[in-house]
Amino acid sequence: STTAASRDAPSTHREKAAVVFDIDGVLVRGKKALQGAKEALKLLRDGDLPFTFLTNGGGITESNKAEELTTLLDTEVSPDQVQMSHTPMREVAQRYTDRRVMVVGSKRFLDVAKSCGFSDIITPQDFLQEWPNLYPYRKVETRPKGPLPEAVVILHDPQDWALEAQVLCDILSGSLAAGEEHSPHLYASNPDFLYSAAHHTPRFGQGAFTTALEHLFEKLHGRPLPVTYYGKPNAVVYRYATRILEAEVRRIRSLPAADNVTFDRIYAIGDNPKADVRGANRAGLPWTSVLVRTGVFSGEDNDPDDPAHIVSHDVHAAVKMIVERRE
Ligand code: G3P
Ligand code: MG
Repeated sequence: STTAASRDAPSTHREKAAVVFDIDGVLVRGKKALQGAKEALKLLRDGDLPFTFLTNGGGITESNKAEELTTLLDTEVSPDQVQMSHTPMREVAQRYTDRRVMVVGSKRFLDVAKSCGFSDIITPQDFLQEWPNLYPYRKVETRPKGPLPEAVVILHDPQDWALEAQVLCDILSGSLAAGEEHSPHLYASNPDFLYSAAHHTPRFGQGAFTTALEHLFEKLHGRPLPVTYYGKPNAVVYRYATRILEAEVRRIRSLPAADNVTFDRIYAIGDNPKADVRGANRAGLPWTSVLVRTGVFSGEDNDPDDPAHIVSHDVHAAVKMIVERRE
């Protein structure tokens, strides 16, 4: 007979294949859907395969990104399906509750910082009001000094490099504390040196700024700048992405929250070998890397440094192959 305990015991649901899409250079370039992107999503829906989005992009919240994708791709995307570079950084915000944190970025990065849980936020630009001599090229209204930031968090691509590089080198060196022990840590949401936008060759990403900052800091202080990177290809991102995908499966299959979900294959479709392919390859099975030629990578064959398990012309060809493989 079935006891209450065994009836309630969670069961394991096995999913044969699921897809995790990179966004820029795979589905979208600039503000336009790439050719075949809408058809690819339709194929997946018709084939009843679970999918989520995993981008190193940022500057807007997951809800705003879901709205943007819904419009661009002609398919309903829920915010729960969207993982951005800042999404797993809620754990950083928790570490600094009610402590002052310098946040760097562009677009709507302050909304993003608040949605991540950062509460006492200051930008490099506002910090100049308290330390007006740090950057002689920008005149600002002054105000009394507040506490020094206990951490610096780059949440999206900086766009005021000269000012930001100077202020960050000052803060991260601890030199503003005048004799007291002060060594704030640097966190960066996205290591991408390049990414694929509307222009025909890749653009500098957030990683280009941190590369410059690391060089400047080391040249200035004679020691390396410690940085904790989030974003692909880091392992933390893939652990988080697996949880998001499991939740998506529970949602579309109407499974109880306690049920376990396993995958035979998680296909990570990306355009950047150093981010998407390296990350999926390092994450290991069930992750399977699929490299497309519509973004950062445009080679004939495979990437020599980070070879993908599968190379496809574009996202449509990749999804077609995945749907056929599963059958
Ligand atoms: O800023 C965007 C970027 O670095 C990469 O975005 O979607 O290709 O991971 P994505
Ligand atoms: Mg990309």
